[in-house]
Amino acid sequence: MKKPIRVAVTGAAGQIGYALLFRIASGAMFGADQPVILQLLEVPVEKALKALEGVAMELDDCAFPLLHGIVQTSKPEEAFGDANWSLLVGAKPRGPGMERADLLKDNGKIFIEQGRVIDRVAASDARVAVVGNPANTNAMIAASQAKRLPADRFTAMVRLDQNRATTQLAKKANVLVSNVSDVFIFGNHSPTMFSAFHLAKINGKPVPQVIGHLEWLKSEMQETVGKRGAAIIAARGMSSAASAANALVDHVRDLMTPGMIHSVAVKSHGDYGFDPDVWAGLPVKTTAPGAYEVIKNLPIDDFAREKIAITNKELVDERNTVKDMLK
Ligand code: NAD
Ligand code: LMR
Repeated sequence: MKKPIRVAVTGAAGQIGYALLFRIASGAMFGADQPVILQLLEVPVEKALKALEGVAMELDDCAFPLLHGIVQTSKPEEAFGDANWSLLVGAKPRGPGMERADLLKDNGKIFIEQGRVIDRVAASDARVAVVGNPANTNAMIAASQAKRLPADRFTAMVRLDQNRATTQLAKKANVLVSNVSDVFIFGNHSPTMFSAFHLAKINGKPVPQVIGHLEWLKSEMQETVGKRGAAIIAARGMSSAASAANALVDHVRDLMTPGMIHSVAVKSHGDYGFDPDVWAGLPVKTTAPGAYEVIKNLPIDDFAREKIAITNKELVDERNTVKDMLK
């Protein structure tokens, strides 16, 4: 039997938490032979802690063989103590008519404290995935607090955009999603993100060659993927939850699986024209469990360069907005 992985999840009694915890406990994130201990953090408010108690009861009632323990707490030190992975979901979601960046002032400060505590008490191999919006910049805030953990351990999720783009391409080409590969998301988890259709493949062939419709690829597809979160809020009255939880399962599973090629928001070192030190969605290859390298030198044409410049500018603007929160 393998040693359990300690997984801290913040906002565990929220919408995404409810769609996520059961998947982790079932083995979907770390594998069918990997036990886990869930360390669940909620705000110190009676209603939230009571709801968390209910979620923990339901986890118990599933009798998951891989679930070796549940910690329920409102103390970050307890939640992040010895954690191998910290999944930072807990934050305000946006409502109708808002952009994710509107959440920055409220949500940003959560990540100051959490980044600091993770750096102090988490396991030496600690890794962090940020979901709370605006995810890229929140990851930057958390990472800026760390003295012990290197910045590349802090990632943010653009996997939902990758999955959304994959399905849009599959539908347009009338193929299965499993026929679509190399879908990379560049930049911010926001409407400015660039879904790099020119690199994507269907059955190994370039998407522009298979789909044609360059105008659709450049405009409608970008807009559908970039504004999908808002479309879901308009339809459901609440932000995406099950698909976000599923994307987080994919994000972490692929970061733990050597050889996987996927999109992750990571600290930029200037590749593809992103400012150094913003957290940008980039194509990565997992090199060892939890370790990755940015895939370099993929061809970038004029259209892609223009789109990357726009999303980079938004990331730089967000960084300027929170400069007082950065260490
Ligand atoms: P929710 O309101 O249903 O749940 C959030 C939970 O977090 C609540 O239970 C709240 O009590 C808790 N929380 C708030 N501050 C906390 C803190 N400091 N520590 C611990 N817990 C805290 O929201 P949700 O729908 O689960 O969404 C959570 C976040 O994820 C939002 O910011 C949302 O915008 C974001 N999101 C991101 C993506 C993405 O692709 N990156 C996708 C969907 C949602
Ligand atoms: C999403 O993309 O669905 C989430 O980021 C939620 C949102 O605010 O759009």
